[in-house]
Amino acid sequence: MHSTIAFRNAMCATPLSRLACQRSTVAGVISLPTKRCISSTRSAFHENPLGIPRKPPAPQVRGPGTGPAPTMPRMQRGLPQKMPIKGVKHIIAVASGKGGVGKSTTSVNLALAIAGMNKRVGLLDADIFGPSIPRLMNLSGEPELTGTEDRLVPLTNFGVKCMSMGFLVGEEAPVVWRGLMVMKALQQLLHQVEWGDLDLLVIDMPPGTGDTQLTISQQIPLSGVVIVSTPQDIALIDARKGVNMFKKVNVPILGMVQNMSLHVCPKCSHESHIFGDGGAERTAKEMDLDFLGDVALHSEICQLSDKGQPVVVSRPDSKHTQYYKAIASKVVTKLWPSDTRPPSSP
Ligand SMILES: Nc1ncnc2c1ncn2[C@@H]1O[C@H](COP(=O)(O)OP(=O)(O)OP(=O)(O)O)[C@@H](O)[C@H]1O
Ligand SMILES: [Mg+2]
Ligand SMILES: [Zn+2]
Repeated sequence: MHSTIAFRNAMCATPLSRLACQRSTVAGVISLPTKRCISSTRSAFHENPLGIPRKPPAPQVRGPGTGPAPTMPRMQRGLPQKMPIKGVKHIIAVASGKGGVGKSTTSVNLALAIAGMNKRVGLLDADIFGPSIPRLMNLSGEPELTGTEDRLVPLTNFGVKCMSMGFLVGEEAPVVWRGLMVMKALQQLLHQVEWGDLDLLVIDMPPGTGDTQLTISQQIPLSGVVIVSTPQDIALIDARKGVNMFKKVNVPILGMVQNMSLHVCPKCSHESHIFGDGGAERTAKEMDLDFLGDVALHSEICQLSDKGQPVVVSRPDSKHTQYYKAIASKVVTKLWPSDTRPPSSP
């Protein structure tokens, strides 16, 4: 198996031909379709799942008698060192315990609404197995590498820079990785993307309270988390778990968004509470969290999302956009309390 990978690697020694390489094999168990040609040995593959070429170590220029180079302890009191993301002022995560409650839809529209408030915004899809950002932001294609070849350049649409595992594998290609690979890929997505200067990076989290949530909350300084839930009890139980997990790792909770609250029939305008009435708002109160706002359940939000035309940009005057803008302005006020009027950035 090694020789197969080594042979394939020899065929694609340049970064561009690396990008053309279509398949690789993981740990002798599973075949993984990926666009990026990966490294030549099994252990190196685990070290570099996204196949970003390595930079040779910079030559050390040190005067005589200066002693050994200072090293930063990687672990302090057993916890991984938090590392800021270069150029990024604030990082927030959009999370929930439960799947399918609208985290990705909220992340996208929240990011776009905040970008509309003169902030430089990026969007990172932390869902390695089920990335949604390429479709929702109508983006595809392989990210280029920076001139130094050690970082990925995000793709941009609607003025928001985006990075997703979905850019690196095809839309229908499953990522069949064990935890170690997923965590390493996540670290590369966190620290090897050239965001440039951003006021805010929004991270769209996968469902659950597992490895990804822990890695993100322990490895990067999060300014806070937005918890999304439907008003349904079954979603709220998991939302509570999500809240408690972030509290446990000392990440501030910015508040709760209630998604799919009211349904307004597009034909007769009849209003119904399909998933119950006000459950997330009540839960926020019980857990002493701020309630950031409601987003109604509406087929237009779903249809526009599927078309890669997020409602905030494609229907800027709609009621749905007003919901997202109201949530966005609460988040902005929490992140920049002195910003009565958001400053314009160049
Ligand atoms: N307010 C809404 N009105 C109508 N449809 C919605 C709304 N919010 C989300 N949806 C739809 O619900 C589905 C799930 O939304 P989304 O993908 O954002 O959830 P998620 O929490 O990110 O899911 P996952 O846990 O799988 O990542 C999508 O089809 C989306 O278009
Ligand atoms: Mg999602
Ligand atoms: Zn009706």
